[in-house]
Amino acid sequence: MSEQLGTVVSTMEGPSPSKISFVVNNGKVHKGMFVEIEYSEGVMVLLVEDVIKTNRYFERPDSVKVIGDDLEKNFPCAEWEFLVANAKPLGVFVKDFIQRTTFPPSPGARVFCADNERIRKFLSIQVDGLNLGKLQFHDVELSLNLSKLLQKHLAIIATSGAGKSYCVSVLLEELLLRKKEQGQIGVVVFDTHGEYTCFGDPLRNKNESIDLIDFSSRTRIIDGSKIRIALSKVSVHMLSSMVELTPNQKRALGRILNKLKEEMRAGAGPFDLIDVKNEVNSIDNEKTQSSLFGVISDLEEINIFGKIDEPSIIDFVKPGRLVVIDLNLIISEKKKQVLVAYLSDKLFKERRSFGKKIPPFALFVEEAHNFIPEGTASEHAVARSYLRTIAREGRKFGAALVVISQRPKRLDTTTLANCNTNIILRVTNPYDLDHIAQSCEGLDKQSINSISSLRVGEALIVGEAVGAPTFFKVRKRTSQASRHESTLEDSAKEFIANEDKTKEDVNSFL
Ligand SMILES: Nc1ncnc2c1ncn2[C@@H]1O[C@H](COP(=O)(O)OP(=O)(O)OP(=O)(O)O)[C@@H](O)[C@H]1O
Ligand SMILES: [Mg+2]
Repeated sequence: MSEQLGTVVSTMEGPSPSKISFVVNNGKVHKGMFVEIEYSEGVMVLLVEDVIKTNRYFERPDSVKVIGDDLEKNFPCAEWEFLVANAKPLGVFVKDFIQRTTFPPSPGARVFCADNERIRKFLSIQVDGLNLGKLQFHDVELSLNLSKLLQKHLAIIATSGAGKSYCVSVLLEELLLRKKEQGQIGVVVFDTHGEYTCFGDPLRNKNESIDLIDFSSRTRIIDGSKIRIALSKVSVHMLSSMVELTPNQKRALGRILNKLKEEMRAGAGPFDLIDVKNEVNSIDNEKTQSSLFGVISDLEEINIFGKIDEPSIIDFVKPGRLVVIDLNLIISEKKKQVLVAYLSDKLFKERRSFGKKIPPFALFVEEAHNFIPEGTASEHAVARSYLRTIAREGRKFGAALVVISQRPKRLDTTTLANCNTNIILRVTNPYDLDHIAQSCEGLDKQSINSISSLRVGEALIVGEAVGAPTFFKVRKRTSQASRHESTLEDSAKEFIANEDKTKEDVNSFL
């Protein structure tokens, strides 16, 4: 065991199996640290939830006011300053097994910094797991089991700029670097702002990137604006989310699609909007005809339907490979919704089918509150039901969902409740904090209070993947940074430099 940190004290509430306070008599104890106590039952591991400094000389505001600074000159104040830590017992190691705490240690028991090996066991840390960073206050890498972290879905939540995408990049690196024998999964990212396209670029500046790894050969970037989806596989419900349809138009369009689908099954081949237009031409009722032409021209404008899926994303989902669907160039929100809905549904169906053409996969959804919103009418949130299905049923079929959001309050509660692990970086909005408190099981009040003071890159992980809420520092990335990551200042300088260069070129040409 390491050096003694403190001694258990007797308080109104403890020591009890759920709360233990100790006075610190050596070294520093921080909130979020793991400590341990050896006693009759075994070795108890505890999480420090709060640290409070006390000093008898400063207990009475009236005497502090009257005596003021003279207090420290005339009395041994420093000797009476104590640091008291409140800790929550997490479990007791009996030999190598972890048991629930049912019996407290005695007042006077000695408290030590937790042994690294015991922390690893307690948090289910695995040597060859997914290494997300390092625990705060302990020399322990947070290397987590793939299934525990992802199988029952993961939510990554933080205010804008707190480091969500950075943390996701680290997780992507870990997934891509896994060896075959460790079990590789396919990875698909819906990249709303083109933040992960850098995975597909060969390293930009080889001299500057000695520590960086080139992921381009393992990555496929797909420009979302060029994706075409097979009209034959789209439901009228999906179409009605893109253009407004009256009940009559819905019925008429449904009839046409069914007819064309039947003909396709009979051997006529796939169809597109031109074929639908031809069908509309043969409708007798002029009014219905002209209103459907209007609908078709609106659908043509969205420019997403073709005869077949192009490219066929399913073909790119391979073990240990990353597919980034770059939605950055798509302006229409509806188009983004339909793409996410259609592709999520397709991926999940492929996984659920008996033939299973694709490997187990993890689907990352950036800006998830836009695709899985809480409360929005379903015609404006067409992707929600498909992503919800993955959140509810995915774990049985090897389809893991990772939702990333800066507005958890606006994120669908059902989906969030199905994310059994949460990585929370800094969140300051009180409504979001409340929502996190309600939706994250196992998150105590003390940890919630710490979330708003986390620094960029510091995170709290809670849930299935770890035995207790744990603070960690996200490790340094090994993939090159996204071009979007430059500061406002750097972007301004780059813009001016480019402008100067253009002027110079023009002058030298003249
Ligand atoms: N762990 C980290 N170590 C070092 N720098 C980091 C870390 N996390 C984030 N940063 C830096 O902080 C900035 C913001 O990070 P990031 O883009 O990941 O935030 P975000 O939460 O995804 O924001 P947004 O919601 O706007 O997309 C970036 O410049 C990034 O390089
Ligand atoms: Mg981001």
